[in-house]
Amino acid sequence: MGLKKVFETNRESWNKKVAVHAASDFYNLEEFKNGASSLNDYELNALGDVSEKSLLHLQCHFGQDTLSWSRMGANCTGVDLSDEGIKLAKGLSNKLELEAKFVCCNVLDVSNPISEKFDIIFTSYGTIGWLPDLNHWAEMIYERLKPNGVFYIVEFHPIAWMFDYTSDPPKLKYGYMQKDAIYEEYEGTYANSNSKLISKEYGWNHSLSEVINSLINAGLKIELFKEHNASPYNIFPNLIKNKEGMFEMSNKLYPLIFEIKASK
Ligand SMILES: C[S@@+](CC[C@H](N)C(=O)[O-])C[C@H]1O[C@@H](n2cnc3c(N)ncnc32)[C@H](O)[C@@H]1O
Repeated sequence: MGLKKVFETNRESWNKKVAVHAASDFYNLEEFKNGASSLNDYELNALGDVSEKSLLHLQCHFGQDTLSWSRMGANCTGVDLSDEGIKLAKGLSNKLELEAKFVCCNVLDVSNPISEKFDIIFTSYGTIGWLPDLNHWAEMIYERLKPNGVFYIVEFHPIAWMFDYTSDPPKLKYGYMQKDAIYEEYEGTYANSNSKLISKEYGWNHSLSEVINSLINAGLKIELFKEHNASPYNIFPNLIKNKEGMFEMSNKLYPLIFEIKASK
């Protein structure tokens, strides 16, 4: 299947997830509307004071994190493939009177609709697995950063994506450096496993060396690289809550999260 059709399939799938996610306890939209931040300690600690900074949020879903950065004083632009996600993000921005721009586009094509350069580019938790080509992605990031600008990603660890979670128990099935797309159809979503929604989607595994080298080859300098056992989200089977309220494997067999900060 050609990439155009693949992205269209993913867009349809994400469009359907928006309403389910907006109504979920996982995203807790009511609390967010009442002023709670949806951001986690990893990204808050890594990016520090964002006030007055221009911030491009890649794959912003329906904009909670983008608008949380806006609440902290950043001048934000969020982009996402899902028109339903962007529609809800714009609605939240208006309703909550939080200024931010939202643009519906493929993250690989950001430089078509957006010519501005940013102080910060941010992407988090469940983004690069939807992209076939990280070289093109990293080149776009370099292009859209101002000189001395900072790119930050906090993402689920590629080891966690080697498992097929549609099997119970999860089966070690996908290559750490697998190039071929992974197609999955499943009921429910990470934000609501009881939902009857059927997701049909294509994803790709990216090794840590692929992520890091794509950024280096695009011209960025790696400033920070960390791997963590603890995830802020309880999205994998049988995780236990630690004393900080984060989720870990009881045997800590492999890390669940990595972060990278890079500068131009
Ligand atoms: C797991 S969510 C983003 C996670 C975000 N941290 C959150 O929970 O709000 C993944 C997002 O990537 C978007 N997406 C998937 N493929 C994309 C693409 N090629 N270009 C832009 N956005 C894409 C989806 O529409 C979805 O909103």
